[in-house]
Order: sequence, then structure tokens, then C-alpha cells
Amino acid sequence: DGPIEFYGEHQAGIVTPAQDRLHFAAFDLITESRDDLVALLRAWSEAAAQMTAGRPAGATGAVDGHPAAPPDDTGEALDLPPGGLTLTIGFGPSLFVDAEGRDRFGLADRKPEALAELPHFVGDALRPEISDGDLCVQACAYDPQVAVHAIRNLARIGFGKVSVRWSQLGFGRTSATSREQTTPRNMMGFKDGTNNLKAEDTALLGEHVWVPEGEGPAWMAGGSYVVTRRIRMTIETWDRTPLGEQETIIGRTKGSGAPLGGVKEFDELDFGKAGADGTPAIPMQAHVRLAHHSTTNGARMLRRGYNFTDGSDGLGRLDAGLFFIAYQRDPRTGFVPVQLNLASDVLNEYIRHVGSGLFACPPGVKGPGGFWGEGLF
Ligand code: HEM
Repeated sequence: DGPIEFYGEHQAGIVTPAQDRLHFAAFDLITESRDDLVALLRAWSEAAAQMTAGRPAGATGAVDGHPAAPPDDTGEALDLPPGGLTLTIGFGPSLFVDAEGRDRFGLADRKPEALAELPHFVGDALRPEISDGDLCVQACAYDPQVAVHAIRNLARIGFGKVSVRWSQLGFGRTSATSREQTTPRNMMGFKDGTNNLKAEDTALLGEHVWVPEGEGPAWMAGGSYVVTRRIRMTIETWDRTPLGEQETIIGRTKGSGAPLGGVKEFDELDFGKAGADGTPAIPMQAHVRLAHHSTTNGARMLRRGYNFTDGSDGLGRLDAGLFFIAYQRDPRTGFVPVQLNLASDVLNEYIRHVGSGLFACPPGVKGPGGFWGEGLF
């Protein structure tokens, strides 16, 4: 529950161990002033450094300010520990060039090519009101109240400059991002994150997660790109699917998480191995086969998603699923080829992508006085 360092070469919340709770928010700017944007990023960075250290957002906090003024912290995190809070910012394509083709902030020439709009994928049922955004902030913590407090205070500080476009709560991480963590389970009951990139895979992170110097605009060196997808599961149908079929859809056993044809969770996937009936033990259209880097031109990413259940849909079904979050060096060689390859995934019968986000996450703030994305201005 201790604090996680806010300052550093990279932003926290990417390879730092995934916490249990999420509040992810996408914002739209309602100002067209570049100075306002810079002032906002400065104020947010300062508040983020405070809150991730377990302190209130502003100088006088929730209860020590002038009684005639609204407090500069909302107060619901008073008495709570820092909760391992991380805050990670991203810049959406529309910050650079908006839907009408306008360059509101004089940033068009700084837009990374890697921030190209995602293509339409087979089965997409995206709803614009829960997709995209000029800015995003991912708040992760071990206590949901700490994560929600952080987003709420950033929204409060941004009053008059930004409005919340959409936000997503998540409970229960669906990925391990460190070998010290056990692999959690997603809402389909399967271990998720077994074959994820992990914090310990330094060389692979350099190759697949961090933007190297000299690739794209200088302000992104040391940053990463995040893709988010709100994936609704038709869990009532899934729950009536036989266990054996569930396992062949994923390509792993439900209990231990071992690959089909293997014994233990971390056994290598053996795509050449035949099952008892002579067909491949891991079927040709199993999720793990189609998502594996050997079938996606080497594409890899760091998955950091969360389970969600947002009540019910009025038709007697839970509105539940996976809020997929993945970080990568370039979505055009990370998420996009994998999602294209998943077009024939048998899992698609049980899921629907309803929300989507793509954001460029700048490198970390080096120290006090610096601010999120300062290299951009
Ligand atoms: C692996 C579930 C969507 C990419 C896995 C595993 C499970 C799983 C259970 C095996 C454990 C592991 O290695 O992590 C799901 C569910 C999804 C979903 C339930 C939707 C609700 C996606 C999407 C992508 C993706 C949208 C990317 C476009 C991957 C990758 C692996 C994986 C890269 C690792 C494959 C390997 O190298 O072994 N997923 N997944 N998944 N998934 Fe998904």
C-alpha cells in the first residue's frame, strides 16, 4: 500500500506491478488556448505527484483552507494510505488534429505517425460516447477510493478547461506484469496474463513497449502508446458453454492455466503437438494461438487490463467484461496486427468490442518543476 515513485524516466503505471483497481478517464478539452493546456498539464502533474505520495491534491488540502473557499482537495482519501496509486497520462489523436481537421493547440506537426487512427476491425460495435478523447488518465491503486479520488480531483482542477468524455472503473486486474505476481483471472474464469510481457523482461520491454530515441518525434522518447478496448462479454452464453469447449476456445486449461498439450501454467505453447484425436492440441482458431507472436509477425505488447461489471443491461444480462489495456512501442506493429489476426478467433462469439481508445503516453516527469508532456511544447 506504500507510495510508488511518480518521477522517473518512464511514467509509472505501465511496467510497475498492476494494482487491483482502476479508474480510467478520457477527457476532451473545452478550451482552445495552448496556454490553458500547458497550465492544466502543470497543475495536473503537481497534483499527481502529491496524490501518488499519499498527500492531498492542493497546498491546503481538504480541511486546512479558508472556510469561505472550496477546499483544494475533495477529502475522501483523507486517512487512507497512498494505496500504490499510479497516474499515467496519454494524448489522443484529436489533441493534435480534431475531428474537424483543426489544429487547436498548434501541435499538428508534433503528432506521431504511430498515433494513426486504428482501423475498423471485424465485429467492432464501437460507441463514440465511450471511445476516444483528447487526453486520458489511467489511475490504478489497491483501493478503489484512492483511484476514484485521484481522477475526481484532476477533473476538479481541470474545471473550465476539460470535461470528462467517458470513464471506466475496473476491479480485479486481468494481467500479471511482474513475475512476483500470481496470475489473476478474467470474467471468463481463465488465468489471464500468463504469457504477458513482464517488468523483468527488460530487453523485450525495450523492443516492444518503450519508444526509443530517434523513432518518431523527440518528445515521445521513453514513452509508450496505449490502446484501450471496452470488451463486453456475453457471459450468459459463455456460462452455458461446456468446460472442454471453453478450454479449446482459449487454448489453455481453466484450472491451472496450462496450455493444452502441456502440464503446468508456464509451459511453452507447443503448436505442433497433436491431441488424442490427432488434431492440434491447441486448435488452429484458439485465442492463444492467434494472439501469439509467432502468428502475428512478432507483435508483442504489455497487457494491463481489468475486469468490469457495470450493472445490468435491462434485458436480464450483466453488463460485464474486460477493459483491455495494452502498452506498446507502436500500435501499428503491436495491437493492430494482433487484433486483425483475431478476426477468426472463436472467442469472438462471446465478446463484443464496444469502446476504444488510443493515446500517446509521454515519458516520465523527471522531477519537481517538470510536467507531463513538457517536451511537446
Ligand atoms: C492471452 C483472454 C482479448 C491478446 C490470453 C489468455 C487468456 C486471454 C485467458 C491466456 C493467458 C495469457 O497468456 O495471458 C482474453 C479475453 C479477451 C481477450 C477473455 C476478451 C474479452 C484480447 C485482445 C488482444 C489479446 C483484444 C489483443 C488484440 C492476447 C495476447 C495473449 C493473450 C497477446 C498472449 C498469447 C501468448 O503469447 O501466449 N488472452 N483475451 N487478447 N491475449 Fe487475450
